[in-house]
Formats: sequence, C-alpha cells, structure tokens
Amino acid sequence: MLAAGVSIAALAACTPETPVASPAAAPSPSGPQTATSTPAVATTTAVPAPAASAAPPSSTPPSGALSQKYSLSDPASQWVIVNKHRPLTPLQFAPADLVQPRVELAVSGEASLLNSTTAAAAEKLFAGAASAGVNMTLASGYRSFQTQTATYNGYVTSRGQASADTASARPGFSEHQTGWAFDIGDGGGACSFQPCFAEQPAAVWAKANAFKYGFVVRYPWMLHEITGYYYEPWHLRFVGVEAATDMANRGIGTLEEYFGLEAAPGYL
Ligand code: DAL
Ligand code: ZN
Repeated sequence: MLAAGVSIAALAACTPETPVASPAAAPSPSGPQTATSTPAVATTTAVPAPAASAAPPSSTPPSGALSQKYSLSDPASQWVIVNKHRPLTPLQFAPADLVQPRVELAVSGEASLLNSTTAAAAEKLFAGAASAGVNMTLASGYRSFQTQTATYNGYVTSRGQASADTASARPGFSEHQTGWAFDIGDGGGACSFQPCFAEQPAAVWAKANAFKYGFVVRYPWMLHEITGYYYEPWHLRFVGVEAATDMANRGIGTLEEYFGLEAAPGYL
C-alpha cells in the first residue's frame, strides 16, 4: 500500500470532513453547521451503564494477561474490531446510547455525540489534557451510516477511490459509526486533520497518555498495511483502560495485532 517515494503528507490521512486534495469538492456532513439528522441526545449525567457486550469470543483472545472479555463482532462491544475486512453487523448499526460529552466541542449535532461509555471516558481524557495545560477539542465524533456515505463519496469525488480508501472508511466500515471513536483537535485549526497535527501538543499528549483513559491511537504511523489507513494522530478509539494499558505496556500498536486478527490493508 505504501508506494516508494510517497510523500509524508500523503502518508498522513486527512479528515473525512476536509479532504486535503480538494477541500471544496467534498461535503462536510459532520462539520459544525452541517449535521442535519441529530439523534436524541442525553447528557452524560443520565446515561445508562456501559454498553459493552459480554458476548462469546469471536476470535483469538489477546495473547498475554487479558482474557477476552468482550465481543469483537458486536458493534455495541467496546472491543468491536471494525476494519476493511470486518464491516459492522448490521451495516447500518447505530448506537442506542448516544450522548454529548461535556468537553470542548468543535462540532455540533450528530458529530458531537459519542456512545455513553466513550463519552464518559472522553470527559476524563479531556480533563487530563486540560490539567496538563493541553488544549483539546472534540473535532468529529459519531457519524451515521448516511453521513459516512456522504463523507466517503466526497472523498471519492475529490481524490478518486484509491486515495479515498486510505483516509475514509466506506459506510458500514467506520469506527465513527459505532460511537467508540472520535477525532481530536486543538482549538487552533491550522493543523487540524493535517500531518502537522502529529506534532501539536494535543496529539503528542494523547499519544503518550490516552491509554490511561482507555483510548488508543487507532491508526498509528506506518502501520497502514495492518490497519488499512495512513497515520491519523487525531483518531482515538476507546477499548477500556485495561486493554489500552496492556497494549501500551507491550508496545502493540494495532487492535488487529492485539486481538490476533488478520491485517486488513484493503477491502476484500
Ligand atoms: N478516517 C477513518 C478511517 C474513518 O473514516 O472512519
Ligand atoms: Zn476518525
């Protein structure tokens, strides 16, 4: 997937909302003023218990200390693995417990929502960042199947399908559709969803500390042959403190490796 001579800029995926190649050509369905279908929103003060599923294991458990506690296939499970080989089932899954976390929002409407477990963890993450003097914003949270369709199609229109597939998931294949993932910004905007975001304090802090709050940087640098996507220093995925800490301690960069799943560089 990585061609010789590919540029650093090309290696870093850009946001589904703002394709670098042609920003004006792509839709911004989850931008601040563009969300049109907003699910019922609760605050995190009135959320149900964590929605993690305790369904039977569907794949090899993590090698090491952790046993497999949660399903890798149920989209409501905090360990669901979504990649180019593993679409959501059902394809149009929508979380039942979307809420708006009490964090600094750079978006409104649908994109400001997360599932309740992730929202609660995000509040702690953002508080931790703030305590360290780091500005962090929620730049893109939940995306419905319909929104992801528009987002992905915008990428295809502006960049072509091959390039689109390195940065934006096809509808039914995005972690954003589960409510378990979100993109961070830093309130500045100059490097939002750009390669230089990796050097911004928000990304540096998240890379070093997100695991303490249960998050992993889902698409690490140079692991696109496993994850299917170029580096996204802004994309955080909740898997729980225990698993995220275990991954960090063992130096495991991807969920595919951690759970013993096949690499998913491209669609089947
Ligand atoms: N940018 C990530 C891969 C997504 O579209 O879900
Ligand atoms: Zn993302």
